[in-house]
Amino acid sequence: MKTMKYILASALCLLVSTACSGNKKFEGNMNGAEKNAEAKAVAKEGGKLLVVFFSHAGDNYAVGNIEVGNTKIVADYISEITGADQFEIVTHKYDGMAYRPLCDLAKKEQQNGKLPEFEGSIDNLDDYDTIFIGDPVWWGTYPQVMFTFFKKYDLNGKTLIPFTTHEGSGLGSCVDDVRKAYPKANVLNGFSMYGHDVRTHKSTVVKWLKSLGFGE
Ligand SMILES: Cc1cc2nc3c(=O)[nH]c(=O)nc-3n(C[C@H](O)[C@H](O)[C@H](O)COP(=O)(O)O)c2cc1C
Repeated sequence: MKTMKYILASALCLLVSTACSGNKKFEGNMNGAEKNAEAKAVAKEGGKLLVVFFSHAGDNYAVGNIEVGNTKIVADYISEITGADQFEIVTHKYDGMAYRPLCDLAKKEQQNGKLPEFEGSIDNLDDYDTIFIGDPVWWGTYPQVMFTFFKKYDLNGKTLIPFTTHEGSGLGSCVDDVRKAYPKANVLNGFSMYGHDVRTHKSTVVKWLKSLGFGE
């Protein structure tokens, strides 16, 4: 009975959040040909790459209680294949929270424009011309901590490659939000995949990176 209640609550929370995100569906969303060509050129240049990401381990929709977050798994694939350095945006604000209360908190943070703090800093941002930006979709866009990051770091002038993991919203409004945050950056169209697929579908990430000229 308890399990049933939990499943219903989770499903409801996700349905609401998906509805709020405009209900866009993407699976292994690829860049347009033009943007791919740009990215291929970037890959060929062989500049230093960075993956900036946030990922929430713990209780989550469709995957249960996970030790490693879905987006972190994709970030690790990217680093393995491209050699990119990583900066993980870490906040302990959500540690140990069950899925539904986390949904409620995340919604409130979004409505109130909260900017949660995160640990650490990037000292050598100038070293990187191309940055992958990865996140779970929360209520149709980035978790608020990502907007804290956007406020702190100026990524204008760089090539930015957004990617998300999600359970139905695809990229949500993440690409638009990166473009809004950095109007002078070259923001590629982005890539998304279902969070519950990341452990079994590494090949989807490999294929996407190949389309950008990485790992060929
Ligand atoms: C607070 C919260 C809100 C979410 N909102 C959405 C949403 O709007 N659309 C969606 O497709 N998935 C949503 N999800 C599901 C996550 O995007 C998905 O499980 C993702 O893979 C989690 O990645 P992570 O393990 O790296 O944090 C939400 C999950 C949480 C915890």
